[in-house]
Amino acid sequence: MTFTAFDRIPRDCLPALLRAMPKAELHMHVEGSLEPELIFRLAQRNGVALAYPSVEALRAAYAFTDLQSFLDIYYAGASVLLKEEDFFDLAWAYLQRAAADNVLHAEIFFDPQTHTARGVPIETVIKGLDHACRRAHQELRISAKLILCFLRHLSEDEALATLEAALPYRHHFIGVGLDSSERGHPPEKFVRVFDRARAAGLHVVAHAGEEGPPEYIRSALDMLEVERIDHGVRSIEDPALMARLAREGIPLTVCPLSNVRLCVYKTMAEHQLPALLAAGLKATVNSDDPAYFGGYINQNFVETFAALPQLGAREAYVLARNSFEASFADDAAKAGWIAQLDEAFAAAAQ
Ligand code: HPA
Ligand code: ZN
Repeated sequence: MTFTAFDRIPRDCLPALLRAMPKAELHMHVEGSLEPELIFRLAQRNGVALAYPSVEALRAAYAFTDLQSFLDIYYAGASVLLKEEDFFDLAWAYLQRAAADNVLHAEIFFDPQTHTARGVPIETVIKGLDHACRRAHQELRISAKLILCFLRHLSEDEALATLEAALPYRHHFIGVGLDSSERGHPPEKFVRVFDRARAAGLHVVAHAGEEGPPEYIRSALDMLEVERIDHGVRSIEDPALMARLAREGIPLTVCPLSNVRLCVYKTMAEHQLPALLAAGLKATVNSDDPAYFGGYINQNFVETFAALPQLGAREAYVLARNSFEASFADDAAKAGWIAQLDEAFAAAAQ
């Protein structure tokens, strides 16, 4: 660790520092950044009928009791995405917000099966998203990469077909992930498709231990050989697993507002992020589905730190640094971003 003068940063400076500090976002589903206003705009542009009469009525429906109650609305919202420009508009809107939150690097999940099931070609999805990533790099100076997620409630054969259809666009995405309904769909269901992805030189990550048991985190590591665990908060129930995650330096992409909105924790004050950090796990803070869960990455940082007095300037630094170290960027890029992080903390300690 380079910066060490954490006691020179007063607690009342924390919210501003959390917002200003450079960071990477590693767990954000682009379909989950579809704001109600954009849903209505795209519905009108594409002539798609919506089940809700207004933006306000749609937003009012965002009261979730668990992961599945969210996924039902999330997949319905994505039905307005049909053309390449829709996928561009979606990702461009997210990237502008991310840049405003001082995100220097974003690894963005997308769910092609949500769109191909409606007859949208995978090429349309990938090209629209890729266009936004390239433009963001040029105009916003933000590095943006794509990670293709398989829907785990569907079969492994469907995931394999999706990967084969995507491989001609292999240069437009850096890895694969696993999302959607976790319970009853363990990682081992997807061993062959993850083997195939690794053989193609892709990075591999998986959602595990969000609603599912710690055992799913173990099988994601042992059977899918993932490099990061998305969520992973239920590792707290299994001390031996926690020790392994710490020892092996496996990053967890934690999403605090998501966990509260999906009732993994009743309140933010009960979130286990402080315990994960205290145990030496390489945790990061991310927004998951920011249009649905009450905010983008800075909102996650600010609300989490406000609710948890155990989190101070040191933890802010560690979380931001972890986000760069856990990314799939090259070592030179990581070193440059961490130098910027050190500068931001040195300025705050003046
Ligand atoms: N978990 C599983 N699948 C998802 C999520 C999540 O938090 N967000 C979007 N798809
Ligand atoms: Zn997620």
